Amino acid sequence: MRSPLVVGNWKMNGTLVEVSSLAGAIAKELKKKPSKASLVLAPPATALVQLNQKIRRSEISLAAQNCHWQDSGAFTGEVSPLMLRDIGCMYVIVGHSERRHIFHETDEMIAKKLVAAIRNKLRPILCVGETLAEREDGLATKVITRQLRIALKQLARNDIRNVEVAYEPIWAIGTGHNAEPKQITEIHGRIRRFLADSFGQSNAKRVRVLYGGSVKPENSNDLAKTSEVDGLLVGGASLKAETFIPVIRCFDSHG
Ligand code: 13P
Repeated sequence: MRSPLVVGNWKMNGTLVEVSSLAGAIAKELKKKPSKASLVLAPPATALVQLNQKIRRSEISLAAQNCHWQDSGAFTGEVSPLMLRDIGCMYVIVGHSERRHIFHETDEMIAKKLVAAIRNKLRPILCVGETLAEREDGLATKVITRQLRIALKQLARNDIRNVEVAYEPIWAIGTGHNAEPKQITEIHGRIRRFLADSFGQSNAKRVRVLYGGSVKPENSNDLAKTSEVDGLLVGGASLKAETFIPVIRCFDSHG
């Protein structure tokens, strides 16, 4: 019932020319041979408008990497969910660990962003994940449950169907060391149980739970086969067509 989803988070990388050529190469490849997984690209904000033109006739969807929680106002430097919807975004990443840790976003701010995204008919991709110290102290589940509880507390029961959750352990992001399938299955199972308890079984069943953190061609097949993994959120490996395309295709051979 949950179709696989692959999201490329390009973070703060790429000029317009670079982003456009990368998206073009990916779109061309998928046109030749479509993939079972739906694909979402999250380029830097500067490239959203141009990329929307470029992928308009493809199956690829567009995501922003962040948004504010108000639709407009005196918030210098921010971009609103209304504006993102206006330029063709379908998704927005909310609560990425880099936003939480480098820019000090709190669970409360993330909760407001989620509600604002849903209000503007964007699908939020809510990121959760623990630090290495938290995992070593046996706190991974506790931290993730807190992140989910606060981020989702204002959502109506049916709204959860429009949310994707991404488990991104911070110790796996950009380190080359992905979490083990067993660890991922355990946390994803916890996430699904939390969603079922809070929003009901039938709503929870529809939510895709993605894994992110050092996903690359060498591990993507195993990750795609991992129980409870409905998709992947990819950073570094999504920046080159040669490494991203095999990752997108990892769901094609089974399921
Ligand atoms: P890497 O794939 O580079 O580890 O990044 C993961 C990530 O943060 C995606 O949002």
